[in-house]
Amino acid sequence: MASSPSHSSGFTACFVIFLSFGAFGLALFVYLFLIVGCSARPLYPLPSKAVNDIKQSLQTFRPYNIAHRGSNGELPEETSAAYMRAIKEGADFIETDILSSKDGVLICFHDVTLDNTTDIAKHPEFANRNRTYEVQGSNVTGFFTVDFTIEELKSLRVKQRFKFRDQQYNGKFQIITFEEFISIALDASRVVGIYPEIKNPVFINQHVKWPEGKRFEDKFVEILQKYGYKGSYMSKDWLEKPAFIQSFAPTSLVHISNQTDLPKILLIDDITMPTQDTNQSYWEITSDSYFDYIKQYVVGIGPWKDTVVPVAKHYLQTPTDLVARAHAHNLQVHPYTYRNENQFLHFNFHQDPYDEYAYWINIIGVDGLFTDFTGSLHNYQEQTSFNSSDDSIAAKLLHKIAMLVSSYEKA
Ligand SMILES: *[C@@H]1O[C@H](CO)[C@@H](O)[C@H](O)[C@H]1NC(C)=O
Ligand SMILES: *[C@@H]1O[C@H](CO)[C@@H](O)[C@H](O)[C@H]1NC(C)=O
Ligand SMILES: *[C@@H]1O[C@H](CO)[C@@H](O)[C@H](O)[C@H]1NC(C)=O
Ligand SMILES: *[C@@H]1O[C@H](CO)[C@@H](O)[C@H](O)[C@H]1NC(C)=O
Ligand SMILES: *[C@@H]1O[C@H](CO)[C@@H](O)[C@H](O)[C@H]1NC(C)=O
Ligand SMILES: *[C@@H]1O[C@H](CO)[C@@H](O)[C@H](O)[C@H]1NC(C)=O
Repeated sequence: MASSPSHSSGFTACFVIFLSFGAFGLALFVYLFLIVGCSARPLYPLPSKAVNDIKQSLQTFRPYNIAHRGSNGELPEETSAAYMRAIKEGADFIETDILSSKDGVLICFHDVTLDNTTDIAKHPEFANRNRTYEVQGSNVTGFFTVDFTIEELKSLRVKQRFKFRDQQYNGKFQIITFEEFISIALDASRVVGIYPEIKNPVFINQHVKWPEGKRFEDKFVEILQKYGYKGSYMSKDWLEKPAFIQSFAPTSLVHISNQTDLPKILLIDDITMPTQDTNQSYWEITSDSYFDYIKQYVVGIGPWKDTVVPVAKHYLQTPTDLVARAHAHNLQVHPYTYRNENQFLHFNFHQDPYDEYAYWINIIGVDGLFTDFTGSLHNYQEQTSFNSSDDSIAAKLLHKIAMLVSSYEKA
C-alpha cells in the first residue's frame, strides 16, 4: 500500500540502554550501529528532552497516533492543556474540530452547541441566547457557537464531557482558536502534525457569512496557508509541517482540493447516518465505485471503528472487508475512537486497552488511530514496535549480546 506509513528498522534506541560504555561495550556499540545502519528510527524523546536546533521528525514507520481532541481522556477536550499533554505523551498528530464564532473566527470546538462542554449555564448574561436550529436533519436546542462573538466565547470556560472522567480541570481553560491550536503544534520541540476537521460545514455556511462570499472551507484553508501548511502527503513541505484535513462532508473536501494539496481524509459515520451535504448512505460511500471516485481527492478514510468490526452485546463480530477494500484502492484507514475505559472497551479485550491496540494494529492493519488516550497508545507502540517487523530476530540477537556485555563487565 503505497500511501501507508512505510516500515523501516528501529531498535537502536533501546539497545543503547542495555550497553554500558566500557571500551569493549563502546566498540561493540559502534560495530553494531554500523550493522544496524543509520536508517534506524531515532529515539523518540519527549519535548523536554529534545534537542532544540533540529526538530525530531514525524515518525512514519508505524500507524499514526492521533490525539483525538488532545488528551481528552485526562483533560477537558480541545483545550491548550489537552493538546500540550498529548504532545508530551507522544502524539504524532493533534486532532481538532473546527467551528466558527458569530463573527467568523474559526475555533476548536466539537459540538455546535456550548451546553455540554462549557460553563455557559453559569452565565446569566447569555441566558437569552438559547435557540433551536436544524442541524443535519434534526432540531437541536441550546446555545450555539454561531450566536456568540469570539470575545464572548473567550469569556466561557471548558469542562469535561464525561462524568466518569477527571472533573478537577473544569472551569480552568478557555476555548482556543484554530490559530492558537496551530501555534501549539508549531511550538512543540519535535515535529507534531495537525489533524483539523471541517466540522458541520453545511450548518456553519448557513449561519456565518464571510466577506467576498468566502465559505467556511475557504477560511479554513486560508489559515493553514498562513502558517505554511502545504504539500502532498510525504512531500518535503508536508514532513516539515504535517497536516491531514478531515471532513464528513465530501463536497467540502472536493471544494478545497483546488486550494491545497494537503492530504485529506473522508470521515465515515455510523451506517444509519447519511452524509450531511450529499445525503448519501453509508453503503454508497463505502462502495468500490465511490472509493474509485473519492481517491482522486483523499488519501484515506476515517470510519467509526464499530462499523469496521461490528459489535453485538459488547463483543466483536466478524470484521467487514472495509479495510481490505480501502487498502486495495490505495486509501489509508484511520478509525475512531479508541477509549481506555471499561464502558468503551469491548469484552474481547479483557478490559485491556493494549489488547485493543494490538488487535487493530496487528490483525485489522489500520494506518492511524484516533485515541482519547494518546499516552497509552504511545506506550503500547514503544513497547511492541521493536519486534513487530523483521527487526525482531536482530533485536533479540542484540539483546543477547548486550546481556553478555553487561555480565562480562560485571565479572
Ligand atoms: C432552552 O430552551 C428550551 C426550549 O424552550 C428549554 O426547554 C430549555 O430549558 C432552555 N435551556 C436553557 C438552558 O435555558
Ligand atoms: C424543526 O422545527 C421546525 C419548527 O418547529 C419545524 O418546522 C421542522 O419541521 C422541524 N424539523 C425537524 C427535522 O424536525
Ligand atoms: C448534550 O449531550 C447529550 C448526551 O450526549 C445529548 O443528548 C444532548 O443533545 C446534548 N445537548 C446539546 C445541547 O447538544
Ligand atoms: C477549481 O477552480 C476552478 C477555477 O477557479 C473552478 O472552475 C472549478 O470549478 C474548481 N473546482 C472545484 C472542484 O471546486
Ligand atoms: C435523503 O435520502 C433519503 C433516502 O434516499 C430520502 O428519503 C430523504 O428524503 C433525503 N433527504 C433529503 C434532505 O434530501
Ligand atoms: C513482541 O514480543 C512480545 C514478547 O515476546 C510479544 O508478547 C508480542 O506479541 C510481540 N509483538 C509483536 C507486535 O509481535
